[in-house]
Amino acid sequence: MRTEQPKMIYLKDYQAPEYLIDETHLTFELFEDHSLVHAQLVMRRNPARGPGLPPLVLDGQQLELLSVTLADQELSDGQYQLTENHLTLQPASETFTVDTSVRIHPETNTALEGLYKSGTMFCTQCEAEGFRKITYYLDRPDVMSKFTTTVVAEQHSYPVLLSNGNPIASGPGEDGRHWATWEDPFMKPAYLFALVAGDLWCVEDSFTTMTDRNVALRIYVEPENIDKCQHAMNSLKKSMRWDEEVYGREYDLDIFMIVAVNDFNMGAMENKGLNIFNSSAVLARAETATDAAHQRVEAIVAHEYFHNWSGNRVTCRDWFQLSLKEGFTVFRDSGFSADMNSATVKRIQDVAYLRTHQFAEDAGPMAHAVRPDSFIEISNFYTLTVYEKGSEVVGMIHTLLGAEGFRKGSDLYFERHDGQAVTCDDFIKAMEDANGVDLTQFKRWYSQAGTPRLAVSESYDAAAKTYRLTFRQSCPETPDKVEKLPFVIPVELGLLDSKGNEIALRLAGEASAQGTTRVISVTEAEQTFTFVDIAEQPLPSLLRGFSAPVKLTFPYNRDQLMFLMQHDSDGFNRWDAGQQLSVQVLQELIGQQQKGESLKLDPRLVSALRTVLSDESLDQAMVAEMLSLPGEAYLTEISEVADVDAIHIAREFARQQLAEGLFEALWLRYQANRDLSKKTPYVAEAEHFARRALQNIALSYLMLSGKPEVLAAALEQFETADNMTERLTALAVLVNSPFEEQKALALASFAEHFKDNPLVMDQWFSVQAGSTLPGGLQRVKALMQHPAFNIKNPNKVRALVGAFAGQNLINFHAADGSGYRFLADLVIELNGFNPQIASRQLAPLTRWRKYDSARQALMKGELERILASGQLSSDVYEVVSKSLA
Ligand code: TRP
Ligand code: ZN
Repeated sequence: MRTEQPKMIYLKDYQAPEYLIDETHLTFELFEDHSLVHAQLVMRRNPARGPGLPPLVLDGQQLELLSVTLADQELSDGQYQLTENHLTLQPASETFTVDTSVRIHPETNTALEGLYKSGTMFCTQCEAEGFRKITYYLDRPDVMSKFTTTVVAEQHSYPVLLSNGNPIASGPGEDGRHWATWEDPFMKPAYLFALVAGDLWCVEDSFTTMTDRNVALRIYVEPENIDKCQHAMNSLKKSMRWDEEVYGREYDLDIFMIVAVNDFNMGAMENKGLNIFNSSAVLARAETATDAAHQRVEAIVAHEYFHNWSGNRVTCRDWFQLSLKEGFTVFRDSGFSADMNSATVKRIQDVAYLRTHQFAEDAGPMAHAVRPDSFIEISNFYTLTVYEKGSEVVGMIHTLLGAEGFRKGSDLYFERHDGQAVTCDDFIKAMEDANGVDLTQFKRWYSQAGTPRLAVSESYDAAAKTYRLTFRQSCPETPDKVEKLPFVIPVELGLLDSKGNEIALRLAGEASAQGTTRVISVTEAEQTFTFVDIAEQPLPSLLRGFSAPVKLTFPYNRDQLMFLMQHDSDGFNRWDAGQQLSVQVLQELIGQQQKGESLKLDPRLVSALRTVLSDESLDQAMVAEMLSLPGEAYLTEISEVADVDAIHIAREFARQQLAEGLFEALWLRYQANRDLSKKTPYVAEAEHFARRALQNIALSYLMLSGKPEVLAAALEQFETADNMTERLTALAVLVNSPFEEQKALALASFAEHFKDNPLVMDQWFSVQAGSTLPGGLQRVKALMQHPAFNIKNPNKVRALVGAFAGQNLINFHAADGSGYRFLADLVIELNGFNPQIASRQLAPLTRWRKYDSARQALMKGELERILASGQLSSDVYEVVSKSLA
């Protein structure tokens, strides 16, 4: 908790550090009721800041200073200044050492930042500014140092002592204690520091790098989880190989470790040589983790591993550059996942996620550029914009330069900046220099917030055989800026003739056609492209593969969308045509509901999906994606004013109609896939994921029929499935069904069976929190009293409260404001012990401008109540105050 006023920090105020820390020698003495940290910093004046010896201002928070020594002289009280956040000393020479000893309290650290305890083990989380809660330091990413770390702890409870780099010595100590020393040969900023001490088992493997070096791979977990590490280990080895093959990047230490911890604020952390993971991002086996969880583990293991180059070897100069490492690394892990599974399905999932959540963020009060200009609390900027939109921005560079040009650029970037702390400009410069291009205008993607709109219109001249596409771009105002300059928007497109064949594309002025799909760059507010030799009125397929993170509109009618669904050669756009068709149909239903008319579903949606369902040549995962209607959150995002009830009623009505209209086809597909599942042992591979995805979405529709044979099938699947994907879907359809007795039995037997597995219990909580049946809030409140719930554990809060407020929109937005009151109470409570989680759970309330005036008033009222509730963390203060501004 702070006592100093939160203050805004600006990118324009950046200055290089006054001093550098060449070496950092740390000793940790871990005890049950406190820990001691001794730090020796070998320092010098930063030559880049010129002559003179200004005061040395070290960061430090919540530290009890025991002693401080400067240049071997222990300082007395008057020889240094100590404030809430800083320790200030006056060096007397250009080079000197600083020794400090502090006492800290990991055993009561509920914020899960700095050194803390998760269960019985000690662990750290330093990004972004947690190292200052461990020792006095220059806690900023442009101060890179060589670390040696000694950990001393009781031997019996903490047999495993880990830190970054290589183990260099260890031995017994006094009173049943022991110690180990680790040395990290690579210079790194403090945010990549890590320490772990605990009673852990490990799964071991090895990897031979492209230059034939042998790397030991270890995944450390609590003993009961030792059987759930194989999938993460396989994912790690695949990631290491992929980064060599696709980016030419080799691992650099002799050992790579992952530790799984149960209490973690985020997914995982890329500490050098010692990644610390939320256990939900490591542990996976068929019986306890769904297919989605397996894919998430694979992606996060890859993401953290890839950071070793994009983040660690080349790091960020300051936290405004966060997307330099995060956007690029998300882009890298998406490419990896696309290569390991179905690329089109991966793209569909990423885009659906971006459009629903990042677009909402970009349109809300916390909207910020990929490289923000200012922040109060950096922890609030680990956002969808920095990560996902940041990845899209890197992806557009890839699209503009092509795979080869992009690789040349990334090679130059790594070569030029290895061992440095750099900026997004340096990344762009490497891309420019390696390709001889100018990305000046493109860089607006880093500085302008908001989702651009791109309105496209056409005109065909039959006599001249020319086809003109006119693009008009604009970008809505965001809190940081009103006027926006035009972006560079790469639009990949194709033209279809009336038979659905692709037309050769020749722009006016070109000597010949250049393929049937190509990328044009829209760089002006309004721009027209003229295609020649077009023999008949074509149908455009625009923004293929979602080549830019924009809201594109084109006046397609429903028949044209159905045509694209069937004929577009771009798989992503086939799906997207289906989504656009669904949106049109759903918006029509929403309108009918609002006018009090009886609802009538356009039968074309049913027939379009019947065609999809009967196409045996389609990837089954693709079929499953096409059968999924746009979610309520997406329908909210695209509404001017979201009508919560009408959206829910319309979408449920459409689902019901589809279930009836497609019953036979769904039932056949369901049975075929379920039969295959019974005969085939579980495999975590794309083809199997696809089969189960289709089977499960089919079951969720079929259940809406209420037919006894479907209930029987769901129960059979629930009881006999050998994997969590099938079991959890069966549980979810029962929970959302009116079969009260079967539902209660299934929930009870599931909880009984899995009560000792916290990650499975998280899923049990989520399934219930997501049930849109009436009484949602009461169910959530009751579940908070369940013995498996623990408000101090972020996974539990996300599973129950996050799922309720983020996914169960009809219940969360109850007209009486009860959902809002509940969430505000919870945020106030969380603020007292875990500000990062409090601030994240707050997100749904920040979207108040989307709703009707009654709900707006209720949501604002709760935000005001939080603001007035007393001592707010900088995390919560920033989000609440910006939301009310
Ligand atoms: N760098 C981490 C990642 O992207 C993010 C992260 C992990 C983090 N833990 C955190 C960010 C705690 C802020 C606070 O993989
Ligand atoms: Zn990351």
